[in-house]
Amino acid sequence: MQTTYLITGTNRGIGFELSKRVVSNGDRLIAICRKPEEAIKLGELLIEYNDHMTIYAADVSNDIDLLDVASQIDCPIDTIICNAGMMSDQGGIVSRANESNIVSNILMTNIAGPFYTVRTFLPQLKLGKNPRIAIISSQMGSQKHQGASSYFYRASKAGVNNIMVTLSNELKSAGIIVNSFHPGWVRTDMGGKNANISPEESAENILKQLRKLNLTDTGLFLNYNGTELPL
Ligand SMILES: NC(=O)c1ccc[n+]([C@@H]2O[C@H](COP(=O)([O-])OP(=O)(O)OC[C@H]3O[C@@H](n4cnc5c(N)ncnc54)[C@H](OP(=O)(O)O)[C@@H]3O)[C@@H](O)[C@H]2O)c1
Repeated sequence: MQTTYLITGTNRGIGFELSKRVVSNGDRLIAICRKPEEAIKLGELLIEYNDHMTIYAADVSNDIDLLDVASQIDCPIDTIICNAGMMSDQGGIVSRANESNIVSNILMTNIAGPFYTVRTFLPQLKLGKNPRIAIISSQMGSQKHQGASSYFYRASKAGVNNIMVTLSNELKSAGIIVNSFHPGWVRTDMGGKNANISPEESAENILKQLRKLNLTDTGLFLNYNGTELPL
């Protein structure tokens, strides 16, 4: 049975690897990225899989962009993966990089972005088969994590985990499964080259775990290998 995925942040990193696996598995992909015209690898994927893949431009922190994409989509969506995200300053309390425009950008991208994405495509998701939502969060957002840096990145991932729980409570009666995932420490532009897993391994595992989930799992924060993590 073919599944239709909508994924954000698809031009590089984990989002690109998720996209590649979805289309090579024969599933349909609605790929969202900020600048499709500069997304070379994604463009090459489109040439290979153009019969079941489309690319749209949107910044997830801008719900007008997302509404414009939604107005062009008239098919049901089965799975939404809110992957787009950004890292902020990785320093401590005295870091000068936590100025208000930077803080605003990270909170809008990492917290409001997934919320706007889900809100915008909810009508299409409600028409989907076994509908589900995965938000790519981070264990750095867990209240149990022993971090002493990256204040607003941690806060943004804690915030989006809270959004995930609230969505799971509201959408359970509609049969929509909602979870967040820690993707591992992944060798991407964000994770850096010393990270311990590849984007291929992260994406493969997230998709495998996501397919297994059912309504009794809704509201859980999961590691990419499927184990439950503390919120
Ligand atoms: N890598 C890790 O070790 C790690 C660990 C824990 C959690 N994560 C999470 O995993 C997700 C993917 O991270 P990654 O490692 O693949 O990072 P990445 O390589 O830096 O890629 C980030 C992706 O998000 C997109 N993006 C950022 N802001 C956006 C916005 N406002 N609207 C639309 N797209 C936006 C980027 O697009 P542009 O090219 O346009 O900037 C890019 O496609 C993120 O949510 C991240 O927080 C990663």
